Parts: sequence; C-alpha cells; structure tokens
Amino acid sequence: VNPQIGSGTIAATSVAGTRSRFGVPLDQAPTLVEAFRRYPWLNGVHSHVGSQGCSLAQLVEAAVRVEQLVLSIEAACGRRLERIDLGGGLPVAYRSNDTPPSMEAYSEALRAAAPNLLDRPLATEFGRWIHANAGWVVSRAEYVKNVGGERHIVLHVGADLLLRVAYRPESWPHEFIVLDAHGEPRHGDERPQTIVGPLCFAGDVLAQSVLLPTVHEGDLIVIRDTGAYTLSMWSRHCSRGIPTVIGSDASDVRVLRRRESARDVVRFWEGS
Ligand SMILES: Cc1ncc(COP(=O)(O)O)c(C=O)c1O
Repeated sequence: VNPQIGSGTIAATSVAGTRSRFGVPLDQAPTLVEAFRRYPWLNGVHSHVGSQGCSLAQLVEAAVRVEQLVLSIEAACGRRLERIDLGGGLPVAYRSNDTPPSMEAYSEALRAAAPNLLDRPLATEFGRWIHANAGWVVSRAEYVKNVGGERHIVLHVGADLLLRVAYRPESWPHEFIVLDAHGEPRHGDERPQTIVGPLCFAGDVLAQSVLLPTVHEGDLIVIRDTGAYTLSMWSRHCSRGIPTVIGSDASDVRVLRRRESARDVVRFWEGS
C-alpha cells in the first residue's frame, strides 16, 4: 500500500507521494478492503515510503495510516491480518553534521503512535541503515589537472560505482579523506578541488569544488559511507571491471570479491 504521506527531500527515491506508482494508493482503500473481503488468503499489508530523505514524522505518519487501514480491513473482514511489513527507509548520515533519527527513536515513536501494528509479527526491510556507513571506497589520484583555475583530481572510480552521485549530485553528498601515497592523512592547506571519475562523459563528477587538503598525484582518496546503493548499481558503461571488495571485522581483513580482470569484462559482453 502507498500510504501517500508525500515525498521526502529526495524525489527520485520517494515512493509515497500522491502520484507514486508503487503499491495501491491509500485513496483507493475501499478497493483494498474489498480485495481482502473477496480473497481470504490475503493476510498482510506491505508499505515502504522511500529510501533516504523521509523524516521520522513521515515514517511514523505512514505507519499510523497503515494501522488505520489494517484495522478497517479487519473490521470489514472479521479476521486478523497476520503480518505487517513496514519497509525500510530509515535515513543515515552522509555528512559529519547530519543527525538522522536513531532506530530507538523510530521504534519508540511507532510504539506510541501505532501500537496495534506492533502486537503482531512485524517485518522490516532496512537496507541503507544497516550498511551504508559500513563501506568506504579508496581510489588513487591518478592525475591532478588544472582546469579553469581549479585542481581536478582524476580517480579510478566514478559513476560506474557511484551512479547516483554522478546523476543526482545534490542528493548524494559523500565526504572525502585525503591520504598521501603512504596512507597518512593530509591536513591543512585546504582549497576547493573537483573530484572526477575516469568515464567518458563530463558528468562523471563525484564532488564539485569541495574544500580538501591539496591532493597530489599518487595520493589516496577515501570516499566515505559507500556501503549501500553503490556496488549493487555497478554500471558497465566504458567496460570497466568491478574493483576488489575487502571486508573486515574486529579480527580479520579479507578479500570478499576479487577484482574483475579484462577477461571477466569481455566475458560479460560475450554473455558466456
Ligand atoms: C520495497 C523496499 N523495501 C526496502 C528498501 C530499502 O530502503 P532503505 O535502504 O532506505 O532502508 C527499498 C529501497 O528502495 C524498497 O524499495
């Protein structure tokens, strides 16, 4: 069901506007109630309002509307719905001064506003909240070019991995950390620099005029908070291979996915 609570701050990832095409719109609730009446095997309701950019108030309002719908279905059909799925959508911090709501605040607000939803099996589908902040990308600054009076830092990674950043830069800011070639952080000597990827279109830009310590060729650039909606959206444009994926926990660091070779890429296009 689309609870129609309105779009969040990022239109492209909001799915609960009045004109969103996802789910059955709440303003067609009578159709839904009728469907539950007609098909006794219908036993649950699923709702998802969007990914990043929806406020806690919107998430909670969606749950309240779903609760009202569930109660009216149950009253009309004389049976209890077995499961509710509230989707994902809890936003995360991409900037050091972002203050997204905590999971605790969300669950407390749900308990207060929609208690009838929580007294039965509740499924959630949190994605970004679980792993966006757990992933970082590291790429070498291959070239530093002075263009239009500003340093342009050319990395080995761009819109192929950070598709949304390149196409909607205003919505997906990432912070960067500059390391020298030995991995030591650079401090001070900050200036606006533009970070670009290696792909063959002008929009392959990861950050325009971002204030960073002066980057030199061979430095390592860390792009923070890349654990969600990045590798899963890998683009084959320009036929570049997927980079090495490394995972770590408290005791171990290991390669989770080896880097794709040129042969792997050719194989992709051959379809074999
Ligand atoms: C149906 C559904 N559930 C869950 C999610 C995960 O959202 P998020 O990563 O913001 O938690 C999405 C992503 O758009 C989705 O479409």
